[in-house]
Amino acid sequence: MSFEPKILGFLCNWCSYAGADLAGVSRIQYPPNMRVIRVMCSGRVDPKFIIQALELGLDGVFVMGCHPGDCHYLDGNYEAEKKFEMTKKFLSLAGLEDRIRLDWVSASEGKRYSEVVTKFVNDIKELGPSPLNGEEPDEELLENVRAIKAAVSSERMRALVGRERKITEEENVYGEKFPEEKFNELMDLAIKEEYERHRILLALEKYSKSVKDLAKELDIDPSLVLEHMLVLKSRSQVDFGEIIGNTPVFIRL
Ligand code: FES
Repeated sequence: MSFEPKILGFLCNWCSYAGADLAGVSRIQYPPNMRVIRVMCSGRVDPKFIIQALELGLDGVFVMGCHPGDCHYLDGNYEAEKKFEMTKKFLSLAGLEDRIRLDWVSASEGKRYSEVVTKFVNDIKELGPSPLNGEEPDEELLENVRAIKAAVSSERMRALVGRERKITEEENVYGEKFPEEKFNELMDLAIKEEYERHRILLALEKYSKSVKDLAKELDIDPSLVLEHMLVLKSRSQVDFGEIIGNTPVFIRL
């Protein structure tokens, strides 16, 4: 039996949803694999929604909004783009980055709507079913996707992505702009750190563990795990539980 992907689409009310409607009333053919959720603006699509859809076993997620410059709320689609880029980087840590897509479709582009949907459906068909789908989903990958879901919602990531345009596009009081490459470096580091920290938090969900246990289980260098534990402790997310022998054991708060 041929694989028919299940895809979730978040379409902005003012452009892409109207574009989909136009494709429908114009009787333009396209594959019926995408179920649509109408949102008022692509900027409303929280990265967590995308990750959660993948966690639930959807094969792909499509976010569509108005073309740059055409957003009904002025810059919602620019915000959407920043959030999407961050989400894609996180998903690349789990090898799922090709299962999401962002594109712009206006209300008059019924034909283009059918084209971008057809292309995405075909690309997902080529990738095959999600490893998180079916009777026996890949448990390790599922755990990593859960860590990503928590990490994209962390205060640090929300603050970084929320301020990215202001920091990189506007001048500070000295008339200087923060270089985009430098910001990207900061972002990449934050993504890696928050991913590892949330993997640690998940690993501590059921049982308390030492740095050595965590390093072995998650395949992260012990010195890095220790650094993460100190940060997590300062955030009141973990604490020392007990000392076994000479080894402190951490618990999740
Ligand atoms: S209203 Fe369409 S992207 Fe903002």
